[in-house]
Amino acid sequence: MSSVSTDRKRTAPIAAVILAAGKGTRMKSHLPKVLHEVADLSLIEHVIRSVSIAKPERLVVIVGHEAEAVEARVRTAYPGAVTALQDPPMGTGHAAMQARAALEGFEGDVFILFGDTPLIRSATYARVVETKAAANATLAVLGFHAVDPGAYGRLVTSADGELEAIVEAKDASPDQLAIRYCNSGVMCVEARALFRLLDKVEPRNAQGEYYLTDLVALARAEGGRCVAVAGEEAEMLGVNSRRDLAQAEAAFQDRARDAAMIEGVTLTAPQTVFFSHDTVLGRDVRVGPNVVFGPGVVVEDSVEIRAFSHLEGAVVASGAQIGPYARLRPGADIRSKARIGNFVEVKNAVFEAGAKANHLTYVGDAHVGADANIGAGTITCNYDGFLKHRTKIGRDAFVGSNSALVAPVEIGDGATVAAGSTITRDVSADALAVGRAQQVEKAGLAKKLRAKLAEAKAALLGRARDKS
Ligand code: UD1
Ligand code: CA
Repeated sequence: MSSVSTDRKRTAPIAAVILAAGKGTRMKSHLPKVLHEVADLSLIEHVIRSVSIAKPERLVVIVGHEAEAVEARVRTAYPGAVTALQDPPMGTGHAAMQARAALEGFEGDVFILFGDTPLIRSATYARVVETKAAANATLAVLGFHAVDPGAYGRLVTSADGELEAIVEAKDASPDQLAIRYCNSGVMCVEARALFRLLDKVEPRNAQGEYYLTDLVALARAEGGRCVAVAGEEAEMLGVNSRRDLAQAEAAFQDRARDAAMIEGVTLTAPQTVFFSHDTVLGRDVRVGPNVVFGPGVVVEDSVEIRAFSHLEGAVVASGAQIGPYARLRPGADIRSKARIGNFVEVKNAVFEAGAKANHLTYVGDAHVGADANIGAGTITCNYDGFLKHRTKIGRDAFVGSNSALVAPVEIGDGATVAAGSTITRDVSADALAVGRAQQVEKAGLAKKLRAKLAEAKAALLGRARDKS
């Protein structure tokens, strides 16, 4: 099969080095820049996620500012990752040098990436490796044509398209500043050449830093070939400020909305729906306006999620209907054709097939049996101030409006709880439980009361007139 040979090409060893030692001063934050989030996932995890699709043999993250916090996150995201410390930061070339020990003995291609560019797709990384291999180059750089090249490094290319040098904006001549082909920061370098070239980098430039970008001219001076690959500008956004962060979030959301629609999801008002990095939606899911997905949501086929609903850590099975104005919190497990209506909050609770809670209800730490009906204003009183307790509601049970179910408590299959009940003891299957004060009736008493009150009011008004 022809795919065998291409697979072989792809499994050529790759290592990835992610530079994340910078301070991120412009974020004005106590949190390290790369731990700020887009779609509920930190910037560095976005980078790790897309580069890990290329199956790197080694993944090295260069940390510096707030190293421990960054390291902790990196380890959970990618247990095989190695971190190396850069202290103090002296430029991107200096940062890359810190990977030397971690890459000892590695043969293949080394990807050097920045921890603050969360939007680069794995397919784009793959294209860089492929172009490098096809050109038999020492080094490949991911570039982009910028509408406004600003402070980006400029890619200087020859007439036949060879990459000759990268010049930082601060060091560029007016002619070079006019170039709109820019450096994304992503570079792929032959491992054997990398540290030999890095050793030659000197901080002789406007910023007095060791520039990673100098590798291009240094490789060429050795007779090596360098190539540039053009990518989409939208992917290259580097987050330096809160405004950039918001822009990255907006770009991610647009991408997620598009992807959902391409996969067969109807979004009535796409711009008002917000996804998390891991939201999964099935075919023919319909999502109304102003719906927000937090992390960990899986929605199966043909579910309808109506306007203004908020879901997080929830699974919704096919044919279920959620909202409008519903809130599904972590552990909500809504089975097929169940219905969760307006102002209903569900936390850590199963709604079996066909079960319903249509209005104004809180169901937490509970199991609701198939086809059970939970009336408006029902509350599972799951917390006693110290511990959480469970409520079990049987299949076909009917809970009348404004009932308080004081957990731990069990309502049997087919049982009915009368409206306004406070249920503190288990209810047997098929039983009717009434847990409220008895209604009493006193004949004619309303009429007498009215007369008495009217008399009192008239007396009061009379006294006020006499005074004035
Ligand atoms: C860099 C590139 C520039 C490119 C731009 C793209 C260099 C010299 N310049 O510039 O050509 O157009 O990115 O966004 O490479 N870092 C460290 N240690 C350091 C310095 C930086 O780990 O000593 C990390 C930062 O945390 C960040 C990344 O490297 O993740 C980029 O650093 P930054 O200072 O933002 O580079 P730019 O000036 O934007
Ligand atoms: Ca930057």
